[in-house]
Amino acid sequence: MTPERPDIKYLFEPRSVAIIGASHSPDKIGYKMVENIVSSGYPGPVYPINPKGGELLGRKVYAALAEVKDEPDLVCIVVPARLVMGAVQECATAQAKFLAVISSGFSEVGNIEEERKMVSFAHEHGMRVLGPNIFGIFSGPGRINATFGPKDISAGKVAIITQSGALGIAMIGRTAVEKIGLSAMVSVGNKSDLDESDLLEYLIRHSGTAIVMMYVEGIKDGERFIRVLKEAARKKPVVIIKAGRSRRGAIAAASHTGSLAGADNVFDAIMKQCGVLRAENLEDAFSWTRFLADSPMPSGENAVIVTNGGGIGVMATDACEKFGINLYDDASVMRETFGKVTPDFGSLKNPVDLTGQARASHYTAALESALASPSIQAVMSLYCETAVFDSENLAAMIEQSVKEYADRQKPLIFTAFGGAKTEAAIDALRQKGVPVFSDVYEAVSCLGALYSHYRHCSSPPEPIAEISLDLARMEQILQKVRQDRRTFLLAPEAKELMAVVGIATPASRLARSLDEAVKFADELKYPVVMKIVSKDIIHKSDVGGVALDLLNPGEVIDAYQAILQSCRSLKPDAVIAGVEISEQVRPGAELIIGARRDKIYGPIIVFGLGGKYVEVLKDVSFRAAPLSRKEVMRMIEETRAYSLLLGVRGEKRKDMDRVVETVLKLGAMVAQCPSISDLEINPLVVFEYGQGATALDVRVLLNP
Ligand code: ACO
Repeated sequence: MTPERPDIKYLFEPRSVAIIGASHSPDKIGYKMVENIVSSGYPGPVYPINPKGGELLGRKVYAALAEVKDEPDLVCIVVPARLVMGAVQECATAQAKFLAVISSGFSEVGNIEEERKMVSFAHEHGMRVLGPNIFGIFSGPGRINATFGPKDISAGKVAIITQSGALGIAMIGRTAVEKIGLSAMVSVGNKSDLDESDLLEYLIRHSGTAIVMMYVEGIKDGERFIRVLKEAARKKPVVIIKAGRSRRGAIAAASHTGSLAGADNVFDAIMKQCGVLRAENLEDAFSWTRFLADSPMPSGENAVIVTNGGGIGVMATDACEKFGINLYDDASVMRETFGKVTPDFGSLKNPVDLTGQARASHYTAALESALASPSIQAVMSLYCETAVFDSENLAAMIEQSVKEYADRQKPLIFTAFGGAKTEAAIDALRQKGVPVFSDVYEAVSCLGALYSHYRHCSSPPEPIAEISLDLARMEQILQKVRQDRRTFLLAPEAKELMAVVGIATPASRLARSLDEAVKFADELKYPVVMKIVSKDIIHKSDVGGVALDLLNPGEVIDAYQAILQSCRSLKPDAVIAGVEISEQVRPGAELIIGARRDKIYGPIIVFGLGGKYVEVLKDVSFRAAPLSRKEVMRMIEETRAYSLLLGVRGEKRKDMDRVVETVLKLGAMVAQCPSISDLEINPLVVFEYGQGATALDVRVLLNP
C-alpha cells in the first residue's frame, strides 16, 4: 500500500530543513543554499549535511542525514545526479516529507529512467519531489529562501511558479526592480512529481497570496490543471505566460478537428475558459501582476478616462475597445460629476478633457469628483507633459489620488507621458511602489486584465450540462468496428451511432446493386445523394465516390456506374460494401462540430463555420469538455458562424438550441466513451428555429 502523501503546506511552511550537499566552498550551489536559508531568517532548525562535518555559517554540519534526530519536512538535495538516488534513500530513512532536488542531469538530458525511479521510490516512502533541475523554493509564509538565487527577496503578495530556472532567477531580480514583493517563488523544473496544480492548491488557499503568475512550457496532466485553474481563477487572478506559440506542437490528425486544434490555439482557449489571464510576453505579465496585486476590484463596468490631452485620450479609447473596457457615457452624470471641475472649453464626454491648461489641482478635483460618484467604477487618468503644468506637484498628486482610491476601493490607473521631469516623477513613484505607467496602452491593458478577472469572478459558476448517453448501445456499434480491425466507422455505422445519441442524419439506404439504387432513390424521393461505402476509402470525394443533386432514375443509374468505375480504377484494392443513397438535405447554415481526446487536456471541442474550406477559413473556437450551456453559447459567439445562425439578409434565425445540444453531445461522447478518439460532423446543416439540424457527414475515429 502506498503511504499517504504529505500535506503540501509543509513544502511551503517546513518546520525543519536539511541540505544534502551543503558545501564549505562559498562558490558552490550547496553553500549558497545554506547561506540563503540562514540569511532569510528561517525560524526552524537547519541541518546542513556533508560527509566532512564541521560547521557552516554557524550551523553544525552533520556527516549524514541519519545523524539528525528529526524528520525534516524539506530536504534540499544538491549533489551530482549520480548521487541523488542515495540521498533520496537517506531521506526515506529520515522520514522526510518534501525533497527539492536541485541537481540537473535527469529527464532534461534524456535520463528519464533515473528520474522515474527516484519519484516512485519517493512515493513508496511517503515523500514528494519538487524538481529535479530547479533553483529551489522561496516561501514567504515559511520565511525560507531555499534557493540559490538572490539572497534578498522582498516579501509580498505575488506568487510565481516557473518551469524555467534561469528565467525564474531573472524574474526574482525583476521583481526587486519593480518593487513587487513575493509570497512564493517556486521552480518546478522537470516536474517529475509536483507540478503547477499541486502548488496552486496551496496558493489558492494562502491568504497572503493575492495573485499567481506562472511561466509554463509544457503541461503534463492538463485535465487536472484545468480543474485547479478553474477553482484558482475564481479566487485570485492567475497570470500565465506560456512559451511555444508556434504550430510545431500541432498534432497531425486525420480530421479537421485535429489539424485546426494547434496546441497553442487549444491552450489559449482553455486559459480563457478557466478565467486565466494569458500574457503574450514578460512585460505584460509583470505589468498586470504588479497592478492586479494591489488594485481593488471594480464594483461595476463603468470606466472613465480623465485626460489633459485629446490625442492620448483617443489612444486610450482605442485601447479600451480592444481590452473590453466599457467607457461610461451617461451625459447627465458626466456633467454633474465633471461640470464644475472642467474648463468651459474642455470636454465632459468620456474621455473627460481637462485641456492642456490643467494643473495638478484640476486633476485632484476631477479625480475626487469621480471617486465620489457611485456611477463611476474605475478611472484611467492620463497626463501629457505641458508647459503650464506644475510638474513639481505631479508625483504628490498621483500618490495622493492613488491612496484615496485605494482607501475607497475604486481602481485608478495613472499614465504620465513626457520628458525628464515626468520620467523623474514616475521613477520616484515607482520607487515607492505607487503604480504609474508611461504608456497608455500598457495601462489600459492592465485595467483590461483587471476587468477580465472581475467579470470571471462576478459571473456565477455555471452548471455543467448533464448529457446521458446510452453507452451500452454505443459500445455495441464500436465493438463491431474493432472486430473488423478498423479504427474508423463506415458511414452507416456512424449514422447508427448518431441515431443512438439523437443526432439527426439524412434518411438513407445502402444499395448493393443498380436495381437497389434506383428502388431506394424512388423510396427516398428525389433529389438524392450517393456516396461510396468502403472501409478502404476515407476521403470519398478524392476518388470520385460522391454524387449530389440526382434528380431522376436516369441520373441515379449514371452516377452509380460512374462512382463504382472511378473508385475501382483509383482504389483497385478497396473492398466496396455498396453505395449509400440519401435524401438530399435542403440548404441551411453549415457548421463544423468536432470533439477529440487530446493527450494532455482530455476531451476538446471545436466549433465553427463548416464546409470544405474550414481549414482555410479557420473560423473556429475551442473548449475543453465538459461544458455548461452558456459556455457553448460563448463558443458559438466567438465565430462568424454566430451571425449566420442569427440569420443574415432577411434569413430567419436558425435552430441555435439544436446546435448547442449537438456540441454538448459530441463533447459527452468523447468524454464518456474512451475508445473514441475523434468525432467530427462537417457539415452540420442547421435549419430554421424549431426545425433542427442534420449531420451530413460524420467521421468517427477510434483509438488504435
Ligand atoms: N551527502 C552530503 N553531501 C555530499 C554527499 C552526500 N551523500 N555526496 C557528496 N556530497 C558533498 C560533496 O562533498 C560536496 O561538498 P564539498 O564542496 O564540501 O566537497 C557537495 O556535496 C557538492 O558535491 P559536488 O560533487 O562538489 O557537486 P557540485 O557542487 O559541483 O554540483 C550540483 C552539485 C550543483 C547539484 C550539480 O550537480 C548540478 O546539478 N548543477 C546544476 C544545478 C542547476 O542548474 N539546476 C537547475 C537550476 S535552474 C537554472 O537553470 C538556473
